Amino acid sequence: NWSMGNYIEETVKSIKETVGDKKVLLGLSGGVDSSVAAALIHKAIGDQLICIFVDTGLLRKDEAKNVMEIYGENFHMNIKCVDAEERFLSKLAGVTDPEAKRKIIGKEFVEVFNDEASKLTDVKFLAQGTIYPDVIESQSVKGPSATIKSHHNVGGLPEDMQFELLEPLRELFKDEVRAVGRELGIPAHMVDRHPFPGPGLGIRILGAVDKEKADILREADDIFIKELRAADLYKEVSQAFVVLLPVKSVGVMGDERTYEYTAVLRSANTIDFMTATWSRLPYEFLDKVSNRIINEVKGINRLTYDISSKPPATIEWE
Ligand code: XMP
Repeated sequence: NWSMGNYIEETVKSIKETVGDKKVLLGLSGGVDSSVAAALIHKAIGDQLICIFVDTGLLRKDEAKNVMEIYGENFHMNIKCVDAEERFLSKLAGVTDPEAKRKIIGKEFVEVFNDEASKLTDVKFLAQGTIYPDVIESQSVKGPSATIKSHHNVGGLPEDMQFELLEPLRELFKDEVRAVGRELGIPAHMVDRHPFPGPGLGIRILGAVDKEKADILREADDIFIKELRAADLYKEVSQAFVVLLPVKSVGVMGDERTYEYTAVLRSANTIDFMTATWSRLPYEFLDKVSNRIINEVKGINRLTYDISSKPPATIEWE
């Protein structure tokens, strides 16, 4: 018989008892789980919680700024924002294979996180936003669909670190995590967010990744997401984003011939992310997003809509 008020109260108490006067380190991604875990632990132990936010250069538009504003300035959490864009982009230069890109991003993330962690003293605990479905998933034998792509989630436990794990959300389902987040005062638009993959835009820029492409994709994706919210469609779909293809095509703008990239709108509806259908978004809506992206984002002159289901397609393109 789960009650949120009790849950928060009891968990805060137990975190205090467990942690004592030691420090806790947490990799804050800006996603729902790590954010709610951070807010809960922060409520319990305040500045004994140290968050590390890694800007990989592969994040959505204004992500680092928003996370620092909400959790740093409003919640007064102790957060170190690490600008690691150059590190990630230089390691990724010229790499086109999706799994190779995932491995590079996952490895680099652990290294950046370790570099920061090694500067700290007295840290005894590593906090993670592990939720109940993650616990179940890691216990079950994974079927073929789960192993098709290696899921290097950011926030994975650095291998050679001697921390005790602190996982206050281990018993909660996603809806309960969101409820706890709302109760703790996390803004609705952060609590209701779609999932965002650890490798970020690195697997949404098909083929080789560079800063120019990441900037183009960030702008286009931001328009799509903001329009979904404005049309009250964001919550109707499970995950929506833009993919940038390494394909240029000819267009015309005013008297000028253009030769720019092609982008894809992807929006999926799913319950468990193992199977999914494409979202039946209204034509008028798609038209508006298409016009805005093509007119406003320099570098994209053609937009397509992905109408593939999973399986056989996947939600992401890489
Ligand atoms: P797919 O593309 O396999 O995606 O249909 C299913 C869900 O998993 C997410 N995804 C990832 N998440 N690291 C992550 O943390 C990854 O490498 C990764 N690949 C896919 C995807 O965004 C979707 O929610």
